[in-house]
Amino acid sequence: MIILGIESSCDDCSASIVKDGNQVLSIVIAGQEKYHRKFGGVVPEIAARKHLEHILPVINHSFDKSGCTWKDIDGIAVTHQPGLAGSLIVGLTAAKTLAFLHKKPLIGIHHIEAHAFSACLAGMRYGTPHIALVVSGGHTSLLRFDSEGNIHRIGQTLDDAAGEAFDKVAKLLGYGYPGGPIIDRLALESPATDIVFPRPMMNSNDFNFSFSGLKTAIMYYRKHHPHTAASEIAAAFQNAVIEVLVTKTLQALTKFNLDTLAVVGGVASNQGLRQAFHQMSAKHNLELYVPSPKLCTDNAAMVAGLGYYKLKHNKTSKLTLGIKTNADIKN
Ligand code: KG4
Ligand code: ZN
Repeated sequence: MIILGIESSCDDCSASIVKDGNQVLSIVIAGQEKYHRKFGGVVPEIAARKHLEHILPVINHSFDKSGCTWKDIDGIAVTHQPGLAGSLIVGLTAAKTLAFLHKKPLIGIHHIEAHAFSACLAGMRYGTPHIALVVSGGHTSLLRFDSEGNIHRIGQTLDDAAGEAFDKVAKLLGYGYPGGPIIDRLALESPATDIVFPRPMMNSNDFNFSFSGLKTAIMYYRKHHPHTAASEIAAAFQNAVIEVLVTKTLQALTKFNLDTLAVVGGVASNQGLRQAFHQMSAKHNLELYVPSPKLCTDNAAMVAGLGYYKLKHNKTSKLTLGIKTNADIKN
């Protein structure tokens, strides 16, 4: 089965054509960083307007690259939750219109579930019981997947998402948006630093996170140590985030007696974080799945891949499907 996936929940406009859940025939992503950079973050109205301009060329380009025609397509999967309202509406309206015109089933997709699914694009078998750490700009969650594929959220951030913390700290250090890749690069310049920032909630007896206090600690540190190199502060900040994420994820794997782990979402493209999870997995004999950086950040291949399994299980949506901006996960 071949699925067209559409993703427009935030500032990336993407379409992808995926065969049988894991063969990516094409993936096209129109990013919008250059339009939002001067504002220091994503401006929802600009994002929606740019999606409106990009959506059809991106879908057409995706067909051209895959060599498929509408006759080959078995269903249209689209992110309808969660995200920015205006952005979601553009992708969903395009998907619904095309589904109606071409008489294809419509499959509404939850963005966080799609990020978690990206582990299957990195080789994990769909339906494997595992823990997924989803670390993105809008979300930081620990999810447990059981053998029936049901999702149980076991923890989440109580304030800022991990990616949001990267973005805010980069801004504090005088850099632009998005901050994650900038901190990633800076941290590589100062691999050994003596600065130690707090590890928030690392040993709390739950699987929740908190990153806003860390950002405040960095703001004060910067104020009192104006001559410390930004790269050293970036490295110390990144070390703190990584240690919390690795420690709590290991605690979750231990508690639920699981040995398979997926690390997904935009922050999972961070080089220091990938290395730390590889080391932890080797030490504890875990099976680790981390997608390639391109499939960690927002993309439609994860939407199309998950769409295949939803369609296989007849979990299709009506053409009256609406958007939802909240992140509740229901099976
Ligand atoms: O998954 P994603 O593309 O969008 C959301 O669903 O939010 O994640 C975007 C987030 C941004 O906060 C960005 O700064 C962060 O992922 N990010 C990174 C890196 N690349 C992107 N954070 C740390 N290191 C990176 N290399
Ligand atoms: Zn995302």
